Amino acid sequence: MKICIIGASGKLGKYMIQHALDRGYEVVGICRERSVSKLDAFKGRITIIPGATNDREIIKQAVAGCDGVLTVLVPWGNQHYATGTAQAVLDFAPQDARLIFSCGWHISRDGKDVNPPSLQREEKITRWLTRIIPFIDLDDQVEACRRIFASHTRWTVVRGSDLEEGESQGLPVWSRHVGDPILASNLTRRVDYGLFMVEALKNDALIHEAPAIVGCRAPSALAQAAVR
Ligand SMILES: NC(=O)c1ccc[n+]([C@@H]2O[C@H](COP(=O)([O-])OP(=O)(O)OC[C@H]3O[C@@H](n4cnc5c(N)ncnc54)[C@H](OP(=O)(O)O)[C@@H]3O)[C@@H](O)[C@H]2O)c1
Repeated sequence: MKICIIGASGKLGKYMIQHALDRGYEVVGICRERSVSKLDAFKGRITIIPGATNDREIIKQAVAGCDGVLTVLVPWGNQHYATGTAQAVLDFAPQDARLIFSCGWHISRDGKDVNPPSLQREEKITRWLTRIIPFIDLDDQVEACRRIFASHTRWTVVRGSDLEEGESQGLPVWSRHVGDPILASNLTRRVDYGLFMVEALKNDALIHEAPAIVGCRAPSALAQAAVR
């Protein structure tokens, strides 16, 4: 299986590279030129294509012949970065490729999510701050996901909870709507977020789903497992 990881040098990206290599996948990674050295630990084991992760020509080149594309959607700046990335993947990935995208709980597919107060507060503060310094554009990730949801590709949008570092606890559990009791703990190990993204490549039940995930050892996940 040949896969492309867009945003390979970030924290999530590096975890995904390792999970993919553990499965014997051939990996092509795109990362910004200045970040190539962050991938030194994988030298000789992956192909790196340096470039902006919204550069259409770079994405076209990197996804050619891939069975799957893992995209870290990041709404940096005010240049529609995430939308540009998503659109290029939708346009250029091979027709049958599995496309897996990362984003946060603030993305809603059907408007039926109920965000925890902490997330609502965080969003309010971020929107206020970015009116002064436009370092990030929350609506850019919303637009990117709107386009993905409307596409006829084999997509999955994985909506991450708050993240923490630490040893893997196993594959996170998921639910369709933020606000569902199983998600209440709102915490996932970042390494396991990467695991969910990579496992999704082979999980056709996740096609056209936007799973909101939480760690499988999080109290809310354990409580739901006990009820069942
Ligand atoms: N952090 C959280 O708590 C959280 C929670 C839920 C969901 N998520 C989702 O998880 C994904 C990644 O999150 P993460 O926190 O683990 O971050 P991450 O893996 O470190 O990813 C950040 C990515 O953004 C790139 N980047 C950083 N600054 C940039 C800039 N100014 N312009 C362009 N690209 C830039 C990084 O590339 P370089 O290596 O080149 O810097 C890297 O590829 C995102 O889709 C996010 O929505 C995160």
